[in-house]
Amino acid sequence: MLTITPKQLQCMKKSDIVGKYRKTTIKHFDNTERTLYYTDIETPFPKGEKIISVTNEQGIILTVNSTFTKMSGYSKDELLGAPHAILHHPDVPKAVFRELWKSLRENGEWQGCVKNLRKDGGYYWVFAKIFALCRHGKLVGYTSTRTAATPEQIAACEQECYRLRSLEG
Ligand SMILES: Cc1cc2nc3c(=O)[nH]c(=O)nc-3n(C[C@H](O)[C@H](O)[C@H](O)COP(=O)(O)O)c2cc1C
Repeated sequence: MLTITPKQLQCMKKSDIVGKYRKTTIKHFDNTERTLYYTDIETPFPKGEKIISVTNEQGIILTVNSTFTKMSGYSKDELLGAPHAILHHPDVPKAVFRELWKSLRENGEWQGCVKNLRKDGGYYWVFAKIFALCRHGKLVGYTSTRTAATPEQIAACEQECYRLRSLEG
């Protein structure tokens, strides 16, 4: 596996945001806080393309393809070494990611619909499939491939996120 120096997540910059935005603060898994600016502008998933990334065991990004940079709005330099939480959209409750990591630990895989936050504050929907990568029987990281989510998957995910958010308060 590649070795990459992990980067601290930076707060989003207002100057990067396109369109009318709302502001919020989220607390990440490691208890650090990040100010987010987010808009209602959706970037549609490009037909026939896939977003691919490889991470280490902690979800630190080691490689991305060009569709990842295009859809997230971040450059490759900004993404390599960053945690995947750089894409954490405030509409997606923590319970979704708790379940994702539990499934990765217990079964080595997870799949589901995710709303991701872009650098410019917009969002994009994906249907992600994540698999554990093992070498000589030892976990070395994860790979994720995302394709377009169907309208039905998006509607179900929105409903579930709404339900979970109301439980989280
Ligand atoms: C291979 C892989 C891909 C991931 N892809 C995403 C993603 O596209 N969007 C996202 O918000 N989190 C993704 N995650 C989950 C993040 O690691 C993290 O748990 C999530 O963003 C919430 O982080 P936070 O609680 O620190 O804010 C991925 C994790 C792994 C291992």
